[in-house]
Amino acid sequence: MATILLLSGPNLNLLGERDPEQYGATTLDELVAIAAEAAAKRGHDVEHLQSNHEGALVDAIHSARGRCAAIVFNPGAFSHYAYALTDALATYDGVKIEVHLSNPYAREAWRRHSVISPVVDGTIAGLRAAGYRLAVEAAATLLEERA
Ligand code: DQA
Repeated sequence: MATILLLSGPNLNLLGERDPEQYGATTLDELVAIAAEAAAKRGHDVEHLQSNHEGALVDAIHSARGRCAAIVFNPGAFSHYAYALTDALATYDGVKIEVHLSNPYAREAWRRHSVISPVVDGTIAGLRAAGYRLAVEAAATLLEERA
């Protein structure tokens, strides 16, 4: 049994109200429940943290080192420019999955580049809430492969 850290970046606390055309109507609590259920099916548990502050997310990644087997991370807008998160993830040697509810590659030009993608194992984007289930399943599969 492993702990998967689900990390949620800025503005994701407003899911459910925020731009449902892009992000769907699912609240963050519901996404956490979806991730926890998917993890439980594979024998793992989920710890969740949401922050609107880059430094708090860096601290959470540091605290996952040697403690959590995987990180599933939706960095929100930090995905596109927050190099401190890139560096923090590079220090973490567990499984790393980036997840986005919307498809940033089909949106504004500034969203089409991720500074997170180069330091993760894989990215799931555009599948709304289903992406959270798939991200946890991907993390569990990579953990089994590495065991
Ligand atoms: C997002 C995509 C980002 O571009 C945006 O800034 C978000 C959410 C997504 O889940 O689709 O806050 O990460």
